[in-house]
Amino acid sequence: MNKTRGDYEIKNLLEEIAASKKPTCSELLALLQAEGEVKKHLFQLADKVREKHMGQQVYLRGIIEFSNYCSQDCFYCGLRRSNQKLKRYRLTAKEILDTARQAAKIGYGTVVLQSGEDEWYSAEMLAEIIYVIKRETEMAVTLSVGERTFADYRLWREAGADRYLLKFETTDEKLYQYLRPGNQLATRIEKTQWLQQLGFQTGSGNMVGIPGQTKETMATDLMLLCELNPTMVGIGPFISHPETPLKNTVGGTVELTLQVLALTRLLLPRAHLPATTALESLDPQGRQKALACGANVIMLNLTPLSYRDSYQIYPGKVSLVGTMEKARENMEKWLESIGREAC
Ligand code: 5AD
Ligand code: SF4
Repeated sequence: MNKTRGDYEIKNLLEEIAASKKPTCSELLALLQAEGEVKKHLFQLADKVREKHMGQQVYLRGIIEFSNYCSQDCFYCGLRRSNQKLKRYRLTAKEILDTARQAAKIGYGTVVLQSGEDEWYSAEMLAEIIYVIKRETEMAVTLSVGERTFADYRLWREAGADRYLLKFETTDEKLYQYLRPGNQLATRIEKTQWLQQLGFQTGSGNMVGIPGQTKETMATDLMLLCELNPTMVGIGPFISHPETPLKNTVGGTVELTLQVLALTRLLLPRAHLPATTALESLDPQGRQKALACGANVIMLNLTPLSYRDSYQIYPGKVSLVGTMEKARENMEKWLESIGREAC
């Protein structure tokens, strides 16, 4: 009896949030704890909200993972500097530009340049790459190269970069410091705000299921997302990597990741939400499930094939085979088959 009333109330709450009521942290916690019918209702509502605000289009972004060197030592990530088993690589400016030119030719509207935190690429060097891509193509340029100085961000913005991805990963300060030695959550948030001030469309997000994380902190993660109001939010499950201190831990689940994703869609109806590769790596249906509960973006890997296996943030990372053209074409067909439209 009580449970039924609880479910009824919580479904009402979902409807209110979908109609733009801002929930409290404890309401979000209740929604993260929901199971069964309520969870199903959440997924359906997120799908409706996505359709209403973002339509049927799925934005395809091409991502170039141009360096797997990283000066950081995050406990969860395979690119951490202490992982000596990883074969490191750096793409030259020419390789990055050639790949970007090819991406533009086959119809990408956005190219994402991602790497570990690698100061080998000076701010000027990256600015030059951005500048050339902007001059020669119509593509939006998204950067995902971690924490740098305000001056670096400004230079890249002046060179024409449009967007920047910098996820906060978790709002639990203690856990953040433990997982990202030498780093502070407050700095991460401050840098996100710098990027917003500089006029970047900014991407944020978290991981779901990191050891030590609780549903309470996930509710706080969602509150911070509301506050930051980013243009993009990347939400992926944590997947344990054998060459990290978290090698013997259990990773995040698909279900909980979808729940966080669906809630994010209700809270930020117009945000761009990718169906993350990490989700797909855990579940062959992961991409489709994400698209059915809020996601509207897919990132396709454009990293030259010879380097691709070395960008191993987590194990089992799925990667489409075949040429860049074929991968895009197959994705377009697949999207059409599920009633969505590539753009
Ligand atoms: N599992 C899932 N995602 C991870 N990331 C880093 N390590 C892992 C992992 N083990 C994600 C982080 C980071 C992005 C580059 O990859 O969210 O922002
Ligand atoms: Fe480097 Fe980013 Fe991995 Fe941390 S999460 S080790 S900063 S690539």
